Amino acid sequence: MSDRITIFDTTLRDGEQAPGFSMTFDQKIQMAKQLERLGVDVIEAGFPIASEGDFESVKQISKELKKTTIAGLARTTQKDIDRAWDALKYAKHPRIHTFVATSDIHLEHKLKKSRDEVLAMAVEAVKYAKNLCDEVEFSAEDAVRSDIQFLCQVIEAVIDAGAKVVNIPDTVGYSIPVEFGEIIRTITEKVPNIHKAVISVHCHNDLGLGVANSLAAIQNGARQVECTINGIGERAGNASLEEFVMVLRTRKSLLDLDCNINTREIYRSSQLLSNLTGIKVQRNKAIVGENAFAHEAGIHQDGMLKNPQTYEIMTPESVGISESSLVLGKHSGRHALTKRYKELGYELSKSELDKAYQTFTHLADKKKLVYDADLIAIVRDEISKIPEAYLMESVQVLSGSHLTPTATVRLKINDEVYEDSAIGDGPVDAACKAIDRITNISGKLVHYSIQAVTIGKDAMGEVLIKLEHENRQYNGQAASTDVIEASAKAYLSAVNRIIYTKGLVPTQEENIEQP
Ligand code: KIV
Ligand code: ZN
Repeated sequence: MSDRITIFDTTLRDGEQAPGFSMTFDQKIQMAKQLERLGVDVIEAGFPIASEGDFESVKQISKELKKTTIAGLARTTQKDIDRAWDALKYAKHPRIHTFVATSDIHLEHKLKKSRDEVLAMAVEAVKYAKNLCDEVEFSAEDAVRSDIQFLCQVIEAVIDAGAKVVNIPDTVGYSIPVEFGEIIRTITEKVPNIHKAVISVHCHNDLGLGVANSLAAIQNGARQVECTINGIGERAGNASLEEFVMVLRTRKSLLDLDCNINTREIYRSSQLLSNLTGIKVQRNKAIVGENAFAHEAGIHQDGMLKNPQTYEIMTPESVGISESSLVLGKHSGRHALTKRYKELGYELSKSELDKAYQTFTHLADKKKLVYDADLIAIVRDEISKIPEAYLMESVQVLSGSHLTPTATVRLKINDEVYEDSAIGDGPVDAACKAIDRITNISGKLVHYSIQAVTIGKDAMGEVLIKLEHENRQYNGQAASTDVIEASAKAYLSAVNRIIYTKGLVPTQEENIEQP
């Protein structure tokens, strides 16, 4: 049996479908490219029948990525499978992933089908998919709570029908490692044609055991693990990719198994996802949390200084957290900036680099030392923008202990400048209200977070915002050394996203007349 574990990343499908983690088309493409840099073997790019947006992003990811296998999810109907294939057929390495539930509780209450009917549905779907695509994966949803004899029967039948990968999900995160390992071992022993397929696992984290269960599975013969960056996914999420992979690497001599992940890309992948979705990981999150490599207790610090191995089982560098992240200053030229972006994994076009350099010089003027995190914030803000209807000319606020916060905002659109003022519950509220008055578009602020990009009192503050507008959420983000300016710009970027996504034509005339 191979000692390689296939890493199947479902951040863009199971992860993205969870509340609060939705991404736009451009954000999904950006994330997919980073997953390829990270070295995942399979990217589940979406569920093409679920929406037009899912279909288009799976199609675009299929067109753009050349190394990674691209999977698309489909139920067992021909309509689902056709739709998945229409998006996946552009991929160099496509995979159709079809699924149906096999537990009695799902059969009785959700599908209202007998075991025989479900068995037939699974076989038909795999045969149909196999006519379109050589690589077919079959998932037995809620496998953990399925009757083991029936599960084995379904697996044997779908392998005969042509499935190359058979996935055993713990859909509801119910299992515990000893039990889950036993299920996988039984499958390897009881399914006569199991050697013709790869056993995959997909463990949800409802009891916090997603990674532990995946580990038990590979110790009992599974060779594909489905996981997500930062462990995002339905409810409590899926097994976290970074945790599972670092278990493999850190305990390699014990497990004798490995995967193709470039662990130095882990931190960047985690940060990118947080920035795109506006949801940061908790401070003490294993591997990628802010405290993951922080040693606070005096006794630990003393040990670390004497020999880092006293308290460190892996280095921050091994997951891409660079110690020497202090890089550039006011006198650094374009060449140094280009070189550093390359080292950070960003291939920028000339015009992107021009924009980034301009912002960098302004920032270096305000702040003596520019860190890697600042450079990453610059590319995110300046380059991954959608076309903007409104540009921020200026924002001024008056606030203090005994003042009603008042903001005056100037926005430019098509070379015309509009100015308006508003009062609010605080300076940020006042600035957002002034923007609402000019743009005539307002949404409900459902998420606002601010975080220092680097250390130091002169650090840029990065603001992430989610605006709800007509039942959809729109992200906005911006960074500045002035946190009010960052907040107003982040708010405006979400408003611009609403305008862009909905194809709205802004109407200032009405606004000018507003009191
Ligand atoms: O959790 C689950 O069972 C799934 C399947 C569709 C693989 O996400
Ligand atoms: Zn799932």
